[in-house]
Amino acid sequence: MGNSARLQQLKVVFSLAPAQLQQIADRFQADMSAGLAGEPSSLKMLPSYLAKPTGNEQGHFLALDFGGTNVRVQLIDLSGDGQWVVRRKIAAPLADPAGLYDYTTAATVASGLFDFLAGQIAAVVDDHGDYRLGHTFSFPCRQHGLNQAVLLHWTKEIKTTGVEGQEINALLAAALLRRGLSRVKPCAILNDTVGTLLTAAYGDLSADIGSICGTGHNTCYFEPTLKIVINMESGNFAALPVTKYDQQLDADSEKPGTQQLEKMVAGRYLGELVRLIAVDYLPLTLPPGSVSAEDLAAIIGDIPVKGPLARLTAAESEMLQEIAGLVTARSARLVAATFLGVLSRIDPVLESPHTIAVDGSLYEKMPGYAGMLAAALVEVLGDKAAKVTIKLSKDGSGIGAAIAAAVAGPTAG
Ligand code: GLC
Repeated sequence: MGNSARLQQLKVVFSLAPAQLQQIADRFQADMSAGLAGEPSSLKMLPSYLAKPTGNEQGHFLALDFGGTNVRVQLIDLSGDGQWVVRRKIAAPLADPAGLYDYTTAATVASGLFDFLAGQIAAVVDDHGDYRLGHTFSFPCRQHGLNQAVLLHWTKEIKTTGVEGQEINALLAAALLRRGLSRVKPCAILNDTVGTLLTAAYGDLSADIGSICGTGHNTCYFEPTLKIVINMESGNFAALPVTKYDQQLDADSEKPGTQQLEKMVAGRYLGELVRLIAVDYLPLTLPPGSVSAEDLAAIIGDIPVKGPLARLTAAESEMLQEIAGLVTARSARLVAATFLGVLSRIDPVLESPHTIAVDGSLYEKMPGYAGMLAAALVEVLGDKAAKVTIKLSKDGSGIGAAIAAAVAGPTAG
């Protein structure tokens, strides 16, 4: 079979027709119900101990945002009228690009990682005054309260030793003490999806779904019967039509057999998927991990790429662009299918308006991604899609930490 016939086959496998989207949405909804009922489900459905904010929350707070790629610390003032101001902000990578340090490998122990976080916090606080801190920790956690969250297991290929099974804000508080920062009090912990939803809901009553389309992928929503936000850990959703490339990527990953949806849609994995397909189709030798989501954005956006990908002929580059387009389109459509699943649970006939708040580099920066997500909803919902707004909640995961800290109690000092 010639390459163009093979490419045609690939298109068939990667393009999901509206009926398939509906089928995936139905399965997703079934897994949501099973997870809530405590029955076997690929969705963890973790309670966040947070309702939607009123918009009146106010005060000044520290927000620590730990997502797996960077750590961000912000000093945020919430004005109490749905508005906020970021007073100070720093960010640092968890793995130094120059190779000086990497806090994400198995060679790092918990205290090493949390001492690094405390060091970042130290760079933001003044010499005086008390601070209440909200912590966005973007991994699956079993919560026992707003400030108590035990890490179930790492995702996104992080391997730091001695953190799984531990209470995260207790590790943070201990590191703050070691650093002489007893004035900084962690008082809330939340997932980044929850932070994204809280930020949107702070000024928009219709916001009831929050999602991250970035390095990782996950969605939370406000469960009307329980009146709390549920972190679904939907990256682990596992009733999807997989290809041999998905199987290969999974087999080579840190935790095979987990995070099926995330490995098909998230920025951490899309480049690798395209690489696996590309080496199958093109005369290329590309080492594992050598294609990033940023490379895909460049390929799709017709911006010159560096490295071995730059040495392709015009015809080969065109093929690579097609492959990258198919993989990212499938990502957007799968995510849309899960949104449809949530919508059909919370409002089956779409009586009310809904805002889906999304944060993350893939949604924000991948050319065409946001448009494909919205278009997939229209394909399935038709006119009713007008009830649903998908919007960027920029830095939502960090601002949400301040809102959660405000919900936990008034600012001290
Ligand atoms: C991974 C984490 C999840 C997080 C998502 C986005 O899926 O398990 O908790 O929300 O990445 O950062």
